[in-house]
Amino acid sequence: MSLPVTAKVPFGGDYNPEQWPEEVWQQDYRLFDAARIDTVTLGVFDWALTQPSERVYDFSLLDRIVERAAGRGRQICLATGTGAHPAWLARAYPEVTRTDFEGRRHRYGQRHNSCPSSPVFRRLSAELARRVARRYAANPAVVAWHVGNEYGGACYCDHCAAAFRHWLQRRYGSLDCLNAAWYTTFWSHTFTDWDQIEPPSALTEHWRGPDHTAFQGITLDYLRFMSDAMLANFRDEKSAIRESSPDTPVTTNFMGMYRPIDYHRWAPHLDFVSWDNYPPDDRSAARMAFTHDLMRGVGDGQPFWLMEQTPSHTAARDVNPLKRPGLMRLWSWQAVAHGAQAVLFFQLRASRGACEKYHGAVIGHAGRSDTRVFREVAQLGAELDRLGPAVLGARTPARVALLFDWDSWWALEISDGPSRLVRYQQVVLAYHRALWDAGVDLDVLAVTADLSGYDVVVAPALHMLKGDLPQRLEAVAARGGSVLTTYLSGRVDEDDNAFLMDVPGPLGRLMGVRVDEWDAREPEIVNPVRLDAGDGPLDVESRLLFELVIAEGAEVVGSYLADFYAGTPAVTRNSFGAGHGWYVAAGLDPTGVSWVVRQVLANHDLLGPYPEVPELESAVRVAPDGSRLLFLLNHRAEPVELTAHTGGVELLTGERIAPGEPLRLTGLGIVVLREDR
Ligand code: GLA
Ligand code: ZN
Repeated sequence: MSLPVTAKVPFGGDYNPEQWPEEVWQQDYRLFDAARIDTVTLGVFDWALTQPSERVYDFSLLDRIVERAAGRGRQICLATGTGAHPAWLARAYPEVTRTDFEGRRHRYGQRHNSCPSSPVFRRLSAELARRVARRYAANPAVVAWHVGNEYGGACYCDHCAAAFRHWLQRRYGSLDCLNAAWYTTFWSHTFTDWDQIEPPSALTEHWRGPDHTAFQGITLDYLRFMSDAMLANFRDEKSAIRESSPDTPVTTNFMGMYRPIDYHRWAPHLDFVSWDNYPPDDRSAARMAFTHDLMRGVGDGQPFWLMEQTPSHTAARDVNPLKRPGLMRLWSWQAVAHGAQAVLFFQLRASRGACEKYHGAVIGHAGRSDTRVFREVAQLGAELDRLGPAVLGARTPARVALLFDWDSWWALEISDGPSRLVRYQQVVLAYHRALWDAGVDLDVLAVTADLSGYDVVVAPALHMLKGDLPQRLEAVAARGGSVLTTYLSGRVDEDDNAFLMDVPGPLGRLMGVRVDEWDAREPEIVNPVRLDAGDGPLDVESRLLFELVIAEGAEVVGSYLADFYAGTPAVTRNSFGAGHGWYVAAGLDPTGVSWVVRQVLANHDLLGPYPEVPELESAVRVAPDGSRLLFLLNHRAEPVELTAHTGGVELLTGERIAPGEPLRLTGLGIVVLREDR
């Protein structure tokens, strides 16, 4: 990983001046100055402009845009422009459009519409990237390359089918291995020639959509393949860029918890991670914190760029609420608190036409600076100036790891049984929410990550166990750490085949339990669970999935209260080496999850500084010079009065805060404290 070299946190966003007359650009830049916008992302959808026909490349307008942007010390994140292909390309080469899950070959339209396996698309997208880089690599204003845009979706065309077969040949070597992995004896599916293998779609293995498959093995491999196929597109462009730009960092904008793309497999090929934050609603503070941590985690803990967020509202949803006053600022600082090293908007000026004309922008159609949104953007720009270089290169000092795994996500959600209602994200987010409420700094990690530096590892719904993960989790507990996992963990191996042993498979030793049966019920069915770790009983509710557990060495800390399995374990704790394995066998409600999580954290003295203050987020970043920055974020509209637990200088006001002093945060307010050493 290597981030763009900047003197402070870059501030700005997507800017598409090719959409309006040049007279307007001058007005735009006056307003950029007023808001201290120092970074623009250019050319994300410029393919038709820069290559108007197959043999003609024309950079004249982009030259003027770049020249203008480069003035007055502004920085450019320059896109290759391949996020949407031009109409002439689809007309000349129908293979560049995608074939969908239903088998329909699409015609020209939309964006993010290219078949990742099309040789023509691969050749021409790389060629465009090559030419863009060659033309602008020497421009010192270009601090980053932005490849494509929000890679995603899937294609089921014949080119993809052929590429899938090659991918399978590389993965399995022989059809015998493939047949074993996919368990093809079931329903007489044994393949005797690679050409017999079809992409799993509505025309082949699926019914009722992409999650209902007769063979999890082939569907899982197609998901892996498709993620890799698009990664190959990114890599095509990146290596074309590298021919003339050896050092400028290259990224593409990720989408956080986006199921189709395994960002753990992608991120090692990026120089730095960037992502677009569009939360589903304004009650998603914890979810956003999680996603920032995930994005930092895929990038190996390095800072990332917040590539896009709306300053005000989106347009693509059925209902597009406005960010309330103060919210954009708070969420921008939340990103910084979790590792962002750029705060960028989509978009700097609004489009006049097409589907995003009502999408929020720093500058609206009237071009005014006396709007609330503009004022808030300008205020944030001034604050980021004041922050200066303080967070550049800063890391999060976490002792808690939360595991997140695309394979487990896919496998769990394409599985028939036990319950379609158990969603991977929801289980992970429930445990994260409890950790967030407790105020702990945490890393969201791949299952392949080094766990040796963590005291607590939380692995919700760890459906698939790959490689030596069980041993590495045992090692965490053996040296005194705690490992917490839940129902639907330890079910299948890397090929999605069940372990020939008791559930939770290779985690059984660490957890000291075996799952004898399981019961999935409709959401209205509640089984109460009584929790007790010697501090008095607490009754909570559990729903959706109930595993019937037999303790084999583990101590029971929670039991079901209803049904024929009343009195049997629902939550257990097993001593393992110097530490513990915790197993939660049912879908506990938030109170229950929080109770378990706090038991685990308290054991390691890891509760955050203000665990009893609701919606108060705390996060720490440690700068390369060793200074600790404490971020306090009040997600409630009401002010909150705290007693400072540490002292230092508040970086936005310059005020000194001493430990034990009253500390007041306004509604949606923030504190950025450089702690005394
Ligand atoms: C995405 C895209 C942008 C724009 C925004 C709108 O993040 O990358 O081009 O469409 O959504 O919210
Ligand atoms: Zn295709």
